[in-house]
Amino acid sequence: MKGAIFFSGKYGSTEQYANWIGKATGLPVFDIKDAHAADLSEYDFLVLGSSIVYFKLTIRKWASANLSKLNGRSKILFSVSGAGPSDKLERWVAASFPSQLLTQMEHVALRGKLDHSKLSWWLRKILWMGSLFNPDPQARKEERGGFDYMDKSSIEPILKIIEQFQYSGHNT
Ligand SMILES: Cc1cc2nc3c(=O)[nH]c(=O)nc-3n(C[C@H](O)[C@H](O)[C@H](O)COP(=O)(O)O)c2cc1C
Repeated sequence: MKGAIFFSGKYGSTEQYANWIGKATGLPVFDIKDAHAADLSEYDFLVLGSSIVYFKLTIRKWASANLSKLNGRSKILFSVSGAGPSDKLERWVAASFPSQLLTQMEHVALRGKLDHSKLSWWLRKILWMGSLFNPDPQARKEERGGFDYMDKSSIEPILKIIEQFQYSGHNT
């Protein structure tokens, strides 16, 4: 079965995970910004990668625009965020996609990186101000100072699902 990886991210973490998965599986990797170069309907299964910014998947508009092509294909979604796997994160993901699409995909939550030196001064300021209202002390600290949770081994569950798609002829 033929598959491909499409990702949406801004500061490099989602791209890094997409490239690690691409390297491990041989699947082609496309940034959705350049994805007009690739036709989704050519693929039997898709790996969608998306960062989370302000409680939403950044891939959501692209996914809505491509809904008809996404429907009926096997899919994996990996999210990349500061927050780790939790009900809260699942709610953010659920709020970003039509429920019909969500029920068709497996979701794996990965943790990314926030390097304040890559952010504009006003974004740093907005994050700092937001941190004042964050009740979680660890998250508050990370909003102010950044974090690095990049972990190559966390892609393992995704590689296993891809393997199942490739070898079992799974097609829904
Ligand atoms: C403006 C901004 C808003 C963010 N909002 C959230 C959020 O709501 N929840 C979260 O868990 N992480 C949040 N993050 C952290 C990002 O999800 C994390 O840095 C991710 O690795 C970014 O992916 P990228 O490097 O591919 O752009 C935010 C980061 C930025 C810069």
